Amino acid sequence: MRSEARVSKRIAVLVSGNGGNLQAILDAVDDGRLAARVVGVVSNRPAVRALQRATTAGVPTAVVEALPVETRVQYDERLRDVVEAWEPDIVVLAGFMRVLSPVFLDAFPQAVVNIHPALPGELPGIRAIERAHAQAQDGLRTHSGIMVHLVPDEGVDTGPVLAVVEVAVSRGESLADFATRMHDAEHRLLVRALVEFIDQPIAQKTHQHLRFR
Ligand code: GRF
Repeated sequence: MRSEARVSKRIAVLVSGNGGNLQAILDAVDDGRLAARVVGVVSNRPAVRALQRATTAGVPTAVVEALPVETRVQYDERLRDVVEAWEPDIVVLAGFMRVLSPVFLDAFPQAVVNIHPALPGELPGIRAIERAHAQAQDGLRTHSGIMVHLVPDEGVDTGPVLAVVEVAVSRGESLADFATRMHDAEHRLLVRALVEFIDQPIAQKTHQHLRFR
């Protein structure tokens, strides 16, 4: 981690797939909403669209695939070394589909940020959008949401919340339509949370319910 003051923050982004959230960051940097530079994008999967998005934006990329023989800690050490070389101020998990251990997280204290498509305390883990939609069709929920939070430890989709937005879901809405609205909300919330986090990096904020119309 660098400590000297700089005009814009260095952001490293960890991805596993499509990279819609990465694109939201790249676009916000490009048009000046985010006073930051994406200094590297690393994927645990090769040939994913997120890597193409980074390359198109002129951002260095790396692929760190898990080896069949290595432990999770060994993998996280290799990943940490790649990310540390970019000297990021902030590490964003943007659809990164692995749980990180302290060997990685402790290298970037108070600086690892995750986005999860569910409200705090609800639907941790994979397929949160699909599960929220299924519950809505069963009449069990009327809304879900998105949260952006710090990742201090190995808890899955837990950690101090930086920003939250609720997203309504109705009986009868298609999964595709709901997913599109959720992803749109994710992209806006992530940028907004990063703008605020850059202003106040260590703030332990209470939930900020941002409602989008
Ligand atoms: C997003 O819904 C993210 O919140 C979840 O995985 C999805 C990744 O989407 N963890 P993308 O790769 O950013 O388009």
